[in-house]
Amino acid sequence: KDYLFTYLTERERGMKRDDDKKVVAEIMARCFVPSLVTTTPWEEFHFVGHEIRITEAMDCYGAVVWPSALVLCYFLETNAKHYNMVDKNVIEIGAGTGLVSIVASLLGAHVTDTDLPELLGNLQYNISRNTKMKCKHLPQVKELSWGVALDENFPRSSNNFDYILAADVVYAHPFLEELLITFDHLCKESTIILWVMKFRLEKENKFVDRFKELFDLEEISSFPSLNITLYKAMKKSRRSA
Ligand SMILES: C[S@@+](CC[C@H](N)C(=O)[O-])C[C@H]1O[C@@H](n2cnc3c(N)ncnc32)[C@H](O)[C@@H]1O
Repeated sequence: KDYLFTYLTERERGMKRDDDKKVVAEIMARCFVPSLVTTTPWEEFHFVGHEIRITEAMDCYGAVVWPSALVLCYFLETNAKHYNMVDKNVIEIGAGTGLVSIVASLLGAHVTDTDLPELLGNLQYNISRNTKMKCKHLPQVKELSWGVALDENFPRSSNNFDYILAADVVYAHPFLEELLITFDHLCKESTIILWVMKFRLEKENKFVDRFKELFDLEEISSFPSLNITLYKAMKKSRRSA
């Protein structure tokens, strides 16, 4: 469904598709997959002038780098002036291998990198390997299972995030409501959410509608060839809610 270009003329649609192909090719070229067979699978990524080596595990969703993560890394790199990460307080949810958090850290952010407990070992390994001696602030890896023990582990009074980053966190899992609660819990009025969404099923469109009840959502860019959209969101102010 070409819902992304509803308001564009035929000519504009053609132009946007050409841009899409060009930018997607540029984004995907940042990934280097070795042809050697090694005991631990890894991939190399090129962002903000660094070679970032990511170790993947094949046994769960979060242990591989998804295209949405590349889109978000590319966005952070190419929009570093407008979305300046230097000394900003950033949290990533559903971080997986940690690539996005690594890029945010290399750009100068103070990052809290979160995921389910079983992902944290590999996540910490990738983070340490790619940020030690390279970043102003070393990222902190922390457990965050959506909707679980939020008040204990992330008390609202001490949450002070400038940005929440999220790549490909919405798919057919049973924790969509908990995910929404988590966004809401971590978000203050001034927090900017940068969220990259991969559309796969109708259920995910419904999540966007639910999300819009709590947040002002703005589409920043879309990549129809990947079915991916990058959104910026902020908490609805009391007046507009
Ligand atoms: C499709 S992967 C995306 C990983 C990474 N952001 C990327 O784009 O490469 C989804 C991520 O969400 C995490 N996740 C799934 N359910 C979760 C939950 N209930 N609480 C916290 N994280 C969860 C997974 O562990 C995984 O890292």
